[in-house]
Amino acid sequence: MEDGNRQHVVLFPFMAQGHINPFLALAELLRRRRPTLFVTLVSTPLNIQNIKSSSCPPSLSSIRLRSIPFSPAAHGLPPEAETTAAIPFHQIVTLLLASQSLQPAFEQLIEDITQEDGRPPLCIIADNFFAWSFHVARRFGAFHSIFFTSGAYGTAVYSSLWTHLPHRKTDSDEFPLPEFPDTIIHRSQLPKHLLMADGTDPWSDFLQRQISLVSETDAVIINTVEEVEKTGLRMLRKVLPCPVWPVGPVVSSPSSAIAGNDHILKWLDSQPPASVLYVSFGSQNTITAPQMKELAMGLEASRTRFLWVIRPPVGFDVKGEFKAEWLPEKFEERMRDEGTGVLAHGWVPQLEILSHASTGGFLSHCGWNSVLESLSRGVPIVAWPLSGDQLYNAKMMEEELGVCVEVARGNMESSRADRVVVEKVVKEVMHGGQRGKEIRRRVEEVRGLMKEAWTEGPGSSVKGLSEFF
Ligand code: UDX
Repeated sequence: MEDGNRQHVVLFPFMAQGHINPFLALAELLRRRRPTLFVTLVSTPLNIQNIKSSSCPPSLSSIRLRSIPFSPAAHGLPPEAETTAAIPFHQIVTLLLASQSLQPAFEQLIEDITQEDGRPPLCIIADNFFAWSFHVARRFGAFHSIFFTSGAYGTAVYSSLWTHLPHRKTDSDEFPLPEFPDTIIHRSQLPKHLLMADGTDPWSDFLQRQISLVSETDAVIINTVEEVEKTGLRMLRKVLPCPVWPVGPVVSSPSSAIAGNDHILKWLDSQPPASVLYVSFGSQNTITAPQMKELAMGLEASRTRFLWVIRPPVGFDVKGEFKAEWLPEKFEERMRDEGTGVLAHGWVPQLEILSHASTGGFLSHCGWNSVLESLSRGVPIVAWPLSGDQLYNAKMMEEELGVCVEVARGNMESSRADRVVVEKVVKEVMHGGQRGKEIRRRVEEVRGLMKEAWTEGPGSSVKGLSEFF
């Protein structure tokens, strides 16, 4: 992308933490690599307010933040839907469909920016959920790119499943993907909304349209690493007509300034090296109350130190009060008395926790940011994927990379947890079983590949970004 006179880039993430975080990191990266570049990040008002009030890395002060109006209420959604973190899963598809109404406001904003700057932006880098923004880019003569915040394999498999709904054409439990016959999917690896999709439901309506719009973009950049996701990148390049440049891992900077978390970091400071299992299901997902009990009992039986970010279970207000009855009797007291487990309610500084020397494993839902944050810090994963691409991220990490063990799978309602499996897998990964040792060895290799990708000269992500920009 060459144009010496118009070096202004507009970034437009979807309004969810798992999308905004890597876009913020990308903004920082672009500015670091090209200090003369002018970056504007666009989101809805509540997200812009959150970004402004969070402890952003210093260079973010040089990024222009602009909000576009969005009214969740007009679509029957609660105000907090703007950030997705606090809405029940079934409302997410309503939000996805509603987010398409942002097009006129986005177009107006680009018009305003063009007036202010005296020239249109050189490039719009949008979320894949906002692939429609290529229309706006064309109108202003700007280059258009999609930044995939999810991994290559997860994106390729999830997109293929939604496009073809192959599970509807067979009674078999296992079936190949039409474009990628070597990739075999098991029915248990389909989230509920995909299992139930028939091509006329709201999820199919949104995702099939969005997937086909991605083909209109000029280029794709993706938050992954060439050497780590060889298969996934080959799959994506097979189906996309434009260049695909991996530029990862792009992760946000640590931030210890999240209020009320000092005790967590202090507790971590006092634990032996690599002894703590960090447990979190990301920014949107939760598990059911019975699953929570199984997990708690499995953790206790494994006699492993843990730090569990805990939220009310499926079916309850995620911002509501946490009730002890959702856990085994006196669980929290026992853990506190023994000093072996900490339950954190709310939001914790995840990247800082994963970077801490005491953290030795991550029981994760396998959202792609969590995957990158964990592997780039050399932390092995115990996978409990719940939805969307998470199921395929876990599959790829277990089968191709050998950096994780799956402990349960399925969507939020149906995933079966078993305390005995949790205990066995956690012991294996955390207490140096044969498989645990092999996983740690593989994680170290992957961490090395991720580091190399960002070394000057031969690094593949350095190359990817300079070819793109
Ligand atoms: C969503 C989708 O569910 C997932 O399938 C997709 O791959 C990414 O977006 P999400 O729950 O947001 O997943 O998980 P993840 O991708 O892991 O992103 C969560 C982000 O929030 C991470 O950057 C993580 O560090 C941060 N986080 C989460 C915190 O900083 N503190 C927390 O307490 C929880």
